[in-house]
Amino acid sequence: MALQKFQHFMLKEIYEQPEVIRHSLNDPNKAFQVLPTLDQVEEIQILACGTSFHAGLVGQFLLEQVAGIPTRVRSASEFLAAPFPRTRNTLLMVVSQSGETADVLAAMQAVKQSSGGAFKILAITNNSQSSIATEADCEISVAAGVETSVAATKTFTAQLALFYGLAFFYARQGQHLSHEQLKGWNAQLDALPAQVEKVLQQEATIAAIAASLKDTKTLILLGTGINYPLALEGALKLKETTYTHAEGYAAGEFLHGPIALLDQTIPAIAICPSQPSRSASAERILKVAQKISSNGSDVILLGGSDAAIVLPPCEELLSPFLNIVPLQLLAYHLAIARTIDVDRPRNITKFLKSS
Ligand code: BG6
Repeated sequence: MALQKFQHFMLKEIYEQPEVIRHSLNDPNKAFQVLPTLDQVEEIQILACGTSFHAGLVGQFLLEQVAGIPTRVRSASEFLAAPFPRTRNTLLMVVSQSGETADVLAAMQAVKQSSGGAFKILAITNNSQSSIATEADCEISVAAGVETSVAATKTFTAQLALFYGLAFFYARQGQHLSHEQLKGWNAQLDALPAQVEKVLQQEATIAAIAASLKDTKTLILLGTGINYPLALEGALKLKETTYTHAEGYAAGEFLHGPIALLDQTIPAIAICPSQPSRSASAERILKVAQKISSNGSDVILLGGSDAAIVLPPCEELLSPFLNIVPLQLLAYHLAIARTIDVDRPRNITKFLKSS
């Protein structure tokens, strides 16, 4: 893989995301026909680790809120200690960028053994030849292309795109969305690549924010609703590539104890949906942001009209595609400001064999 004009693979892969979304939405090989029909699915379970786990949390939100299917997510590394109770007519989705993460493979094999084939297991990977893809009952590739940087970026976006496809697929079958509504969502999905390109144009602003955070040791990220997993993923990216102690919280929950952590040395990044009209989520985030700044801590607003990083207006349901980009760029530029080898951060590898 060539770096082309980019200095690092992480930056190149961040910039590939508009194309990844475009490709994901129009990929004729995304054969949802391999899936059981809605009348055979009483519950969906999702197993994954790390970034893929966060994509799974967005998937859970979509499958429940858009398609109305009860959905559970568990970190695969906790699954053997705490397996899901037995359920009927369950579709298990095993999500792994590499398709080789040992914790995910072990959890999937445990389900296979204990369910005696009663579960349908779908692998969602970026490598159709991987162990997870080949051992599952069926596989849908996210087809993001090779990801060289250790920190996952474009594969997260590709996993998101797939979960939107799955949720709309089942929502259509369950008649949760009319033909007209689906047409509306499809038009907005088609607009996403151009909107992500607009977000990428703010790289210089984000690099300046990263420079201002060079000596920051702890960062708090806040999100709500579909953007709560984005706060978790942003924090993971910052931990992995910048070695910052970054924690993601659901904005409302942050007030129930963790707010005691804050002092003037700890800034918060608040992810505020930037849809044309102010949503309940935006109100919630802004209220928490106000409380934090009245306590004397800095708040960096991501999205919203008064934001440090202004994002194009976008329906909240689709906003993760836009919100993830500044968080990835922030992690990248903070790593560069700290002269960290951003493509190969310490202690982590792309294919963790065991934990
Ligand atoms: C961890 C990596 O070991 O595995 C994370 O540090 C990654 O960056 C996680 O997200 C899961 O990897 P995969 O390949 O199963 O999606």
